[in-house]
Amino acid sequence: MTEKFKAPRGTFDVLPEQQSVRRRIAEVARRRLEAAGYGRMDTPIFEDTNLFARGVGESTDIVQKQMFTFEDQGGRSLTLRPEATASVCRAYLEHGMQQLAQPVKLWTDGPFFRHERPQAGRYRQFTQINAEGIGSDSPLVDAEMILLAHDTLAELRVPDVRLRLGSLGTPATRAAYLDELRDYLRSHERDLSEEVVARIDVNPLRAFDADHEGTRRVMDGAPTLLERLDQADAEHFDAVRRLLDRNEVEYHLDPTLVRGLDYYTRTVFEFECERLGAQSGIGGGGRYDGLIEQLGGPPTPGCGWALGVDRVALALQKNGGDGVKARIGVFVVAEEGERDRALNVVTELRRADIPADLDLAGRAIKGQMKQADRVGARHALILSADAKATLRDMGSGEEREIDPATLVETLSSR
Ligand code: HAM
Repeated sequence: MTEKFKAPRGTFDVLPEQQSVRRRIAEVARRRLEAAGYGRMDTPIFEDTNLFARGVGESTDIVQKQMFTFEDQGGRSLTLRPEATASVCRAYLEHGMQQLAQPVKLWTDGPFFRHERPQAGRYRQFTQINAEGIGSDSPLVDAEMILLAHDTLAELRVPDVRLRLGSLGTPATRAAYLDELRDYLRSHERDLSEEVVARIDVNPLRAFDADHEGTRRVMDGAPTLLERLDQADAEHFDAVRRLLDRNEVEYHLDPTLVRGLDYYTRTVFEFECERLGAQSGIGGGGRYDGLIEQLGGPPTPGCGWALGVDRVALALQKNGGDGVKARIGVFVVAEEGERDRALNVVTELRRADIPADLDLAGRAIKGQMKQADRVGARHALILSADAKATLRDMGSGEEREIDPATLVETLSSR
């Protein structure tokens, strides 16, 4: 028996009935971003592996475990992009965008790849819409960014969205804070769960997420990173919060918010949709003031986000579907002997930008009428052997004879 092929694990086909919701997500985001001065750019699907190792961070799960890396015929190591920010920053440097008026505002979308354990909402190929503002450290950029993502999700009516907001300060502040937290945890070791104790060195922040009662009590008194920000970082964060308040964006302050990428400094944020369960993150981002330098450029601040299109689509489908069906304006129904004429009529309509379709499977008249209904046609145009044409309103059932010569004119006016 021949082998049956399936889409690779963690990937999926996007079928026609799933297209309209995804297209709408992309269109709303594109319109909002471009109306705010963000220019579209595309970067390659694969890049030099070192770009991600350096950009995303050697110690992250993404670089350690999740990259699809391969060698080309010339022995160079390439990687399917796991995210967009490193590529966009590379392009910023490669095209001398430091010379342009700053900040440079860019957006992109497309497929991204991470070798993760697949589950609902977590895939090995997924789609992101990504926005970056590079070249200004003003809190206005952080606020503009968050507002654009917030308003996009609001326009799409994604239900139950929650915005978590935090600040990581500088890498030095963060390192000093983690040392302080480790000392604090060690001094309370007796009250903590074994699991938390085992992770004090690797990931002390995990202790904040623990359900264990003793651990929770200890963590109520634990120092937070937000309390340890230096003055400049604290003022920056206050300014971002003030701007969000002024623009009526609700957020939950989360002093323990951690992100899966190493480049973040200062502001970090995540949008969640609680209806999605375990994979509730529908978008996230933050400021990355050290990244461009990390990639060999001059010190250049930046800030951005990515929305997860697959998860936003899931959230909208859970909310009762997208409600939009591809609509055919006219379904041409042909009596036997009129089938060739049907294609002429459909072509004429399509050339006049009227969405039209016809039977391609040799159905009898009754079957063709059923098909007209199935595709959601507004009108059926019945071509009979006497060279006449009858237009039927599929909603009301009303029928009237029309002159085939004035077809386009008649239908355009409807
Ligand atoms: P991220 O949080 O890794 O950030 O991804 C952003 C969004 O992409 C997530 O919130 C999620 O919706 C979606 N996503 C990520 N991984 C998967 C997956 N395996 N399956 C389905 N959806 C997924 C970034 O990628 C940063 N580059 C965002 C950014 C831009 N920060 C600054 N600028």
